[in-house]
Amino acid sequence: MSQHFTSKSLHQNRFLDYELIDFGHHRKLERFGKIIIDRPEINATNSPHNNPELWKSAHWKFEEINPKQGKWKQLRESPNEWTMILRVGNPMKLELNLTQFKHIGVFPEQSENWAYIQSKLKKNASSKSFLNLFAYTGAASVVAAHSSAKVTNVDSVKRITEWAKRNASINKLDNIRWIVEDARKFVTKCERRGERFNGIILDPPIYGLGTKKEHWKLERDLMGLLKSVSKVLHQKEGFIVLNTYSPKVDLAQLSAMVSSIDNMPKLIERYNLGLLSNKRHFLPLGQLIRACRP
Ligand SMILES: C[S@@+](CC[C@H](N)C(=O)[O-])C[C@H]1O[C@@H](n2cnc3c(N)ncnc32)[C@H](O)[C@@H]1O
Repeated sequence: MSQHFTSKSLHQNRFLDYELIDFGHHRKLERFGKIIIDRPEINATNSPHNNPELWKSAHWKFEEINPKQGKWKQLRESPNEWTMILRVGNPMKLELNLTQFKHIGVFPEQSENWAYIQSKLKKNASSKSFLNLFAYTGAASVVAAHSSAKVTNVDSVKRITEWAKRNASINKLDNIRWIVEDARKFVTKCERRGERFNGIILDPPIYGLGTKKEHWKLERDLMGLLKSVSKVLHQKEGFIVLNTYSPKVDLAQLSAMVSSIDNMPKLIERYNLGLLSNKRHFLPLGQLIRACRP
């Protein structure tokens, strides 16, 4: 089968109780469940705020002290920890809270991937295994586990993995194996042990650290990790979802990497991942590759 490429924007906010209310001037205004937050967004350049009134609705505003640090300012009565509903199939819940890095525990643009994962695992899910690398608060793990697949959740940060465990627990899921380890080391171990997965999602950061301070650098290390990933992917019906947020590695480069690896699935879709605001303006956020066997 020859390689097949599609390239389009993926931005439908269908699966979360979420709205991108407005964005511009390097900020975005979003509603997560009942709470509205105003926070910095480097990509928010192409849609100036055209209704300043909207921005007064924010409960919390993140003010940067420097590019690495900042603090949340409360503007209206509201909790700093809450849950939101995620609707991929049956409703699920995610715990959210305000972290010092301006994130709150969910990347809403990922919700399209969760629906894709669910659709891929749907048939005979309980006999399937799914690997979530760089898993953060485990939203993709929760969705896959909800489909009854056997899930492995890997992240190098213990505190983040505790958060992911709480997300599993509020959804009464116990079919997730929790691994706090460097993602590359874990995949290498799986390769040695002959462990195979039906689906793998990887959402690597630009820079990261493993549990033993192993340095992760996207541009340098992605190709090696993808080669290892291809070896632990089920040969018959495996799929991968690869998501990056680096302006230095574009979609064409990502799909060239994936398609150059022998064992990788050859049906490749590529997308500009982003969110659509209530005014139907597109906020680009990252690059997304999905590859499955025909
Ligand atoms: C961009 S977040 C992933 C977001 C996630 N896909 C989601 O949608 O919820 C990157 C995650 O990678 C983790 N991480 C960074 N370096 C790592 C490494 N070397 N091995 C494993 N996890 C790592 C971080 O702790 C962080 O949780």
